[in-house]
Amino acid sequence: MDYQVVVLAAGQGRRMGAGENKVLLDLAGAPVIVHTLRVFETDPSCKGIVLVIRDDEKEQFRALVEDYRLKKVRTFAEGGKERQESVRSGLGVIKMDQKEIVLIHDGARPFITHREIARVTEAAAESGAALLAVPVKDTIKQVADFTVERTLERKSLWAAQTPQAFRLFLIRRAHQESLETHFMGTDDVSLVEQMGLPVKIVEGSYRNIKLTTPEDLVIAQTFLQRGEE
Ligand code: CTP
Ligand code: MG
Repeated sequence: MDYQVVVLAAGQGRRMGAGENKVLLDLAGAPVIVHTLRVFETDPSCKGIVLVIRDDEKEQFRALVEDYRLKKVRTFAEGGKERQESVRSGLGVIKMDQKEIVLIHDGARPFITHREIARVTEAAAESGAALLAVPVKDTIKQVADFTVERTLERKSLWAAQTPQAFRLFLIRRAHQESLETHFMGTDDVSLVEQMGLPVKIVEGSYRNIKLTTPEDLVIAQTFLQRGEE
């Protein structure tokens, strides 16, 4: 099923501590963002990519898109201070029918696969909103002041990933409502949850990591050396 995607690259990468935007760091010969964009570039179902970037990095990203011949990146949007603002900016410039499916994806997740994309796109076509997620492996404690308040039941816990997929009109409405109520979510589907609407989970892969801290880069290099599994 066809879709368009908003790819987010307007962060600072503070937790990576590299002194520059982590999606521009080299990973086995190409910047992280190039690995991510190539997955969509080579997916026949992807009909267009909106790349959300910071204004002061515009030239760098434009050069990458040109050099690596990423032809589906036809539109750039300017990112905001918070991820949610960057998403809203991307959704504001996308050109497609309101009933079609839009994906929102972290530029820092280069290991997404065509198969996972197809599954989350299908799920959103059925339910309006869907996300990839994996069962949590760790035991999660709820803590205050370095003291355990309670242990959450692992059976019911899933770790959210991207892409998260939506009918365009639904995610646009969710953003409008969040703006009015000043709701800030840490992912995209939480804005739809806030409206009281159902969100479907699609079981993803533990390989679809987000490069967040320096050790994630080591894991990413290992994945690339070993190839598909
Ligand atoms: N992102 C964005 N705009 C923001 C914040 C984040 O487009 N204002 C993007 C990042 O570029 C990244 C994705 O959203 O691809 C996921 O965010 P995160 O992992 O938090 O990246 P950063 O915000 O860059 O990292 P940190 O929080 O450690 O500073
Ligand atoms: Mg961040």
